[in-house]
Amino acid sequence: MTKTATPASKVLDRVLVLEMVRVTEAAAIAASTLIGRGDEKAADAAAVEAMREALNKLPMDGTVVIGEGERDEAPMLYIGEKVGSAQGQGPRIDIALDPLEGTTITAKAGPNALAVLAVAEEGNLLNAPDVYMDKLAVGPGYPEGIIDLAKSPTENVQAVAAAKGVQPNEIIVCVLDRPRHAELIAELRSLGCGIALIPDGDVAGVIAVTNEETNIDLYMGQGGAPEGVLAAAALRCVGGQFNGRLVFRNEDERSRARKWGIEDLNKIYTRDELAKGDCIFAATGVTDGSMLKGVKRHKNGVMTTDSVVMRASSGTVRWVRGEHRSKR
Ligand code: FBP
Repeated sequence: MTKTATPASKVLDRVLVLEMVRVTEAAAIAASTLIGRGDEKAADAAAVEAMREALNKLPMDGTVVIGEGERDEAPMLYIGEKVGSAQGQGPRIDIALDPLEGTTITAKAGPNALAVLAVAEEGNLLNAPDVYMDKLAVGPGYPEGIIDLAKSPTENVQAVAAAKGVQPNEIIVCVLDRPRHAELIAELRSLGCGIALIPDGDVAGVIAVTNEETNIDLYMGQGGAPEGVLAAAALRCVGGQFNGRLVFRNEDERSRARKWGIEDLNKIYTRDELAKGDCIFAATGVTDGSMLKGVKRHKNGVMTTDSVVMRASSGTVRWVRGEHRSKR
């Protein structure tokens, strides 16, 4: 009989779900010391170091598939780096991470900076190169296939409006505030849509479509491809649809994609093609945001953190408030 490895999903269940929160908490706490200090790089470096240390305590044979960049660009948490304390023994797990999603937000003390990661069984997260991705997302409760990146923004807004039973001018779309989105914004304005322009942080922007309290119906526009995989993993857990298509600006970016095994460079990925099978998504707020509060420092050295951890196979979403005291 052929020996098979321990199904990772079982181990994800028992050991790793709540442990993931420790990892994002550690990164968020480290980054929080640099909120509003005007230094994106220092904030990112602090989060990276803390996340790596926390990951290396976990009993798993983990591989970073989406991280801080390629090996020659990033000293820590580079793509392909092995993490975890059970190399060659524990469950083989792929990890997509962004220790600080929103470096500029953090430097400027703006909203919605997160420490975030997603883990899945080996081979289940798209090895997205660090290029842009066209993104389109809608929250849960709509017929499958209601959004389609191959269609125009107008057609997508009209489809969602019709399914929601409202006029297109009642639809709110979240878009990153970038010059490259001028045409998209003009098209949405011509429909009369509300546009929630965000300065940065499109993982939170995409997840906002799943939370009725944000009033955001759709997410549209180009952001980082790694952030697209992270957002797709979150939507796998809480529902909602996502389409993503990689955007290449030059031959170097195209060859990076080929290097990671991507053959069809124009493919439109659905949510489940970006993050397959069972997966866990965890995030801790660094600064206050629509989903999570940021790290707070109280008297007597007590810090509080606000986190969420979700799992695709069960659909369980756990909100975790951490109180952290300095060691006595
Ligand atoms: P960083 O945390 O790396 O600064 O990324 C923030 C972010 O806004 C992402 O959420 C988004 O996907 C990407 O940058 C957009 O890239 P750009 O700033 O080049 O438009």
